[in-house]
Amino acid sequence: MKSFILSASILSANFRHLEEDICTAVDAGADWIHVDVMDGQFVPNISMGPFIVDFCRQITSVPIDVHLMIEKPENHIKAFANAGADIITIHPEGNPNVLRTLQEIKSMECKAGLALNPGTTETVLRPLIDFLDLVLVLTVNPGFSGQAFIPQVKYKIMEIKRLIDSHAVDTFLQVDGGVTHENIREVLDAGASVIVSASAIFRHPEGIKKSIFLLREAAL
Ligand code: DX5
Ligand code: ZN
Repeated sequence: MKSFILSASILSANFRHLEEDICTAVDAGADWIHVDVMDGQFVPNISMGPFIVDFCRQITSVPIDVHLMIEKPENHIKAFANAGADIITIHPEGNPNVLRTLQEIKSMECKAGLALNPGTTETVLRPLIDFLDLVLVLTVNPGFSGQAFIPQVKYKIMEIKRLIDSHAVDTFLQVDGGVTHENIREVLDAGASVIVSASAIFRHPEGIKKSIFLLREAAL
């Protein structure tokens, strides 16, 4: 059996009953709650801010995994850390202050992650790998849940797994975007240790509990 961390992205949750959706997901075996933060600049969508992280923190004790798809993330690290984030992941694209921001995340006693868009090469990780607790590989274009997995990105996941192993570091390899019970096995085989899923959990026709069961079963 492949063991992996399941990070449930609330981007596809029903916000009319967000608390219930989060509790159902955690009770059914979601290990982390993933919060997708979008500013309408870095990505063509606007989503959630620190107040949602604070709300999640109040209703569950599992790690809150914050994915910042925003310009100038350095301006918001303190707010997300103070709201209760455990992991904060930023993007390197168009960001001249990556290392400084990763160091700031660590100074706030959070785990630091770096997220790569589908068109970003893994070489950006080489000088940074020793500073990272997590690498997030996007397998869709960032901005929306419910998009189809881009299969070509699988080779990048495999390359990054090799990089992590060759540095003998304990870095989580997180895959985010379009993961379903149909492709989770190949994503894990490529080297992922953390799976993010929004629509395959919160929009599954058979409900949250069954969808998590199906993801776990497909990984066997
Ligand atoms: C995409 C986000 C993802 C998204 C995944 O910009 O980073 O976390 O919520 O949604 P699904 O699992 O539906 O592809
Ligand atoms: Zn995400």
